[in-house]
Amino acid sequence: MTSQSESLSPDFFEALYQTNPDPWQFKTSQYEAQKYATTLAALPKPRYQSAFEIGGSIGVLTELLGDRCERVLSVDVVDRAQKEAMQRCQHLPNVRFQQMQVPQQFPKEKFDLILLSEVGYYWCWQDLRKAQQQIFDALVPSGHLLLVHWTVDAQELPLTGDQVHEAFREGVPAKFRLLTEHRYEQYRLDLFERR
Ligand SMILES: C[S@@+](CC[C@H](N)C(=O)[O-])C[C@H]1O[C@@H](n2cnc3c(N)ncnc32)[C@H](O)[C@@H]1O
Repeated sequence: MTSQSESLSPDFFEALYQTNPDPWQFKTSQYEAQKYATTLAALPKPRYQSAFEIGGSIGVLTELLGDRCERVLSVDVVDRAQKEAMQRCQHLPNVRFQQMQVPQQFPKEKFDLILLSEVGYYWCWQDLRKAQQQIFDALVPSGHLLLVHWTVDAQELPLTGDQVHEAFREGVPAKFRLLTEHRYEQYRLDLFERR
């Protein structure tokens, strides 16, 4: 079980992208491509009005999301990752980008979809709890929250994927309905609907 008391810093991610502009092989990995297909297939609505993607990286999933949503706001702490994402999504005028560190910063908008994919375990407990409240407050009633996280326990991360998902499940049934849950060999996916 991991238990770092601080979230991983923007500097950590800056350094990662400096060493390798695609640190998780989002552009080439079959595993990631399949996970993205599963992620989009889990969305119950054919279209969303306004989506918020936390930690969009170089925009591979963002581009797919842009096809399903009237508007997307994608944020990341790393400017260089966002620049690549902007290039990738330049044919999608409905997708906006903003450099932002969540939960220290959070948009003052409402969304009917929030996507937290492979980001929650970089937060410490305190930041996860703050982000949970912000996410809940930013979702319109009946809005969807899609969580996707790797579940292999990595000692260098503040939290595990399971800890992130279990923390959101604590909000069921008072705050959220759990619409979909899947556990695969290396990751899990939960889809919540705000009450
Ligand atoms: C593993 S990638 C996930 C990319 C994408 N969401 C996906 O599932 O393919 C994590 C991204 O989150 C960003 N990130 C980490 N902590 C963040 C924070 N506190 N706020 C915003 N973005 C963050 C990192 O810079 C990195 O680009």
